[in-house]
Amino acid sequence: MDLTTPPPDLYGRPEPDRFMRRVTAFGDRYTPALGSPLLRRSPRRAPARPVPPLQLAVTGHRTVAEDVVELRLADPGGDRLPAWQPGAHIRLRLPSGRERHYSLCGDPADAAVYRVAVRRLPGGGGGSTEIHDELALGARVTVRRPRNGFAFCAEPRVLLLAGGIGVTPLLPMAREARRLGLDWRLVHTGRTADALPFGDELRALDPARVEIRTDDREGVPTGADLLAHTRPGTAVYCCGPAPMLAAVQGALEASGARTLHFERFGAAPVLGGSRFTLRLGADGPLLDVPADRSALDVALEARPDLPYSCHQGFCGTCRVHLLAGTPEHRDRRLTGEERAAGVLLPCVSRAAEGETLVLDL
Ligand code: FES
Repeated sequence: MDLTTPPPDLYGRPEPDRFMRRVTAFGDRYTPALGSPLLRRSPRRAPARPVPPLQLAVTGHRTVAEDVVELRLADPGGDRLPAWQPGAHIRLRLPSGRERHYSLCGDPADAAVYRVAVRRLPGGGGGSTEIHDELALGARVTVRRPRNGFAFCAEPRVLLLAGGIGVTPLLPMAREARRLGLDWRLVHTGRTADALPFGDELRALDPARVEIRTDDREGVPTGADLLAHTRPGTAVYCCGPAPMLAAVQGALEASGARTLHFERFGAAPVLGGSRFTLRLGADGPLLDVPADRSALDVALEARPDLPYSCHQGFCGTCRVHLLAGTPEHRDRRLTGEERAAGVLLPCVSRAAEGETLVLDL
């Protein structure tokens, strides 16, 4: 069940609410009469210009938990930063050229600074290590404006489930839930208390609504444990590793929760994949892609310098051109024209059994 799609109305109900029905009926009835001459006079719009990225400075770099640093980014001239909503993320281009996405964890009301938190991933592609070890105060980074694929819909009753660093998009949601007077609760899980960032900030919002639950004391929670406080009609927001999401999804129906919105770290498990072959360059090596691995993961073993970021087919960082082969596109990013032109996102896209994809690398 893909529940990242926004619900039909702000409160997750399956039908538009009464107010929206009336507004729609009013529009249907009167807009043609009022609008048609005006609409005919409307000047033709120029195509939208690409929005330039922001050039920001690192104004804060501090350790907020074991292997987690918080970065603060601000405009060097003190300008206000573009607005964002809880759940939004930014794309950072680091001095090395690596690009990574991070959820904004600060306060949307503070237009002076963006805050992100980064866990060190020693076996990753080097982005987190660069941020931890090389990105100094005053360094400049290029930042794409905030985008939101995990919007907070402010349902009346909300359960926020965070796994480790997955608390970052949920912290602004908790702040917003408190501001709106919603019935909210946040459960933050992880290996140990030292590994969990922002405990003090969360408890300062409302200690009675925040539960810190660690594996070393209570064991790894099941989906039912995480949803134990769910009451009928609760909207659940979950951000964490794939096993945590799978556990929550498996226990959702029995919990009485109404909706699940989620954001996962890294790659989703490959479902319904077949074994195929990848060739890196027209004369490059042939690589075997097993049914349960992504083409990008396999390609990275031979070419660790390949760019990537989200591992989920939405950022476009891993795009490559196809020289030959018939792909099975599984991304949520490419247009029909791009696919027809041979563009492929190997972090999620693959091929049928026995097929060979030749990548222009
Ligand atoms: S890494 Fe983001 S689309 Fe492939």
